[in-house]
Amino acid sequence: MRVFQIEGDWGIDNLKLSVRPEPEPGPGEVLVQMKASSLNYRDLVVPDRGYGSHTGTLPLIPVSDGVGEVTAVGLGVRRVVPGDRVCPTFFQNWTGGEPNLERLTGSLGGPIDGTMSEYMCLPEEGVVKVPSHLSDVEAATLPCAALTAWSALTTCSTTKPGDRVLVQGCGGVALFAVTFAKLLGAHVTVISSSDERIERVKAFGADATVNYRAVPEWAKATREITGGRGYDLIFELGGEKTLPQSLRCIRPGGTVAMIGILSGSTMATSLGLIITRQVRLQGVTVGHRDGFEAMLLAIDQHQVKPLVDRVFAFEELKEAMAYLKSGAQFGKVCIASRH
Ligand SMILES: NC(=O)c1ccc[n+]([C@@H]2O[C@H](COP(=O)([O-])OP(=O)(O)OC[C@H]3O[C@@H](n4cnc5c(N)ncnc54)[C@H](OP(=O)(O)O)[C@@H]3O)[C@@H](O)[C@H]2O)c1
Repeated sequence: MRVFQIEGDWGIDNLKLSVRPEPEPGPGEVLVQMKASSLNYRDLVVPDRGYGSHTGTLPLIPVSDGVGEVTAVGLGVRRVVPGDRVCPTFFQNWTGGEPNLERLTGSLGGPIDGTMSEYMCLPEEGVVKVPSHLSDVEAATLPCAALTAWSALTTCSTTKPGDRVLVQGCGGVALFAVTFAKLLGAHVTVISSSDERIERVKAFGADATVNYRAVPEWAKATREITGGRGYDLIFELGGEKTLPQSLRCIRPGGTVAMIGILSGSTMATSLGLIITRQVRLQGVTVGHRDGFEAMLLAIDQHQVKPLVDRVFAFEELKEAMAYLKSGAQFGKVCIASRH
């Protein structure tokens, strides 16, 4: 079967179209014929071994997100049957409960082989069935970015109707955050660097917006949007440069969901504000299978359609990665069916 893999040495130049033997499902395993994949920021980091020893070993098949059809099942499999359309879960060992080291280290697309493969052989516990109203590329967008947004809103905090939620940027996690926060009845503010994106995200459902390039001190402007009260939940995607602002517009007792470090990973902020406002800094790492299945119920119930910006062919993985890196997209960058 055809795969993309990083081979020989780390680095994007060593990401190559290659061939591996087709796997066979053993007891408790399922064989999935992959139909589509979707890219996340982390997929740009993996080829350079950006997560250190947690990135895995070579050769490595990249990309965490995808969808496919079960074509065969091993002895004793009960959760799925051939013909089911499934997404592999991002963390293959985290089905539910509290995170622990073992649950947080088994992620697809590094260190475990990812979705850029014609077939994947996975434990039956590591897949979820997807709703029928979604196309393959739409379903492929869900395992990482969507579940991260869902977990921040529902597992790592408890978002209620009327809550004020602030989302940084218009990237993959951010747009799912807007969708799910609105679905839960929250009021959503989005900050973005581009007026064009701001117009698009307003049409997509954002209640209020601020251009963080035009207004670098956006904490004051966004706090005013909440009538001075501050935000119940902030999607912290920027990290180093944005956290100091977030701490000035979170409400006392609010939650800053620590998700991304797009502007740097050093903590250089007034710790006093965290104490005096009794702020909760809550790390979010994608989420577990129970959360994924709860999110899928909501997606099915409300017929949610993920926003797909552009679809590339299987052979065009590197072009798709370059497009994601350019930041030109509004919605997910996907890789189409390979059959
Ligand atoms: N912890 C987890 O479980 C988890 C899961 C998924 C992703 N992540 C992390 O979350 C981050 C975003 O991932 P993604 O896949 O959504 O990336 P993405 O689709 O590439 O989104 C990037 C967007 O973030 C916005 N942005 C960049 N720098 C910013 C800043 N300084 N302030 C505010 N917004 C900024 C920009 O929006 P505008 O162009 O609109 O300004 C940019 O388009 C990454 O750091 C990623 O590693 C973490």
